Amino acid sequence: MRVCRTLSCALGGAYQLHDHLCEKTGLDPQAHGPQTTQDGKYTLEFVECLASCGTAPVIMCNGAFHEGVSEQKADAILRECK
Ligand code: FES
Repeated sequence: MRVCRTLSCALGGAYQLHDHLCEKTGLDPQAHGPQTTQDGKYTLEFVECLASCGTAPVIMCNGAFHEGVSEQKADAILRECK
């Protein structure tokens, strides 16, 4: 899972989303580089602009874009991106 952290997404809550995803997966919210859960199901990282700034915050998972991601939507993405 790639969480965009560039300006529009940062202002739209990307850091809070990253924290939320880390809390849900047991990963370290302070680690901004790629990190993988011990069971190998999830790899999470911050990335720069994914070119969809108007629909921030944006997450890419397994090649699919998810736009306007709320914490609820992030939970659904987690379930489908194992
Ligand atoms: S700033 Fe996130 S997609 Fe451009």
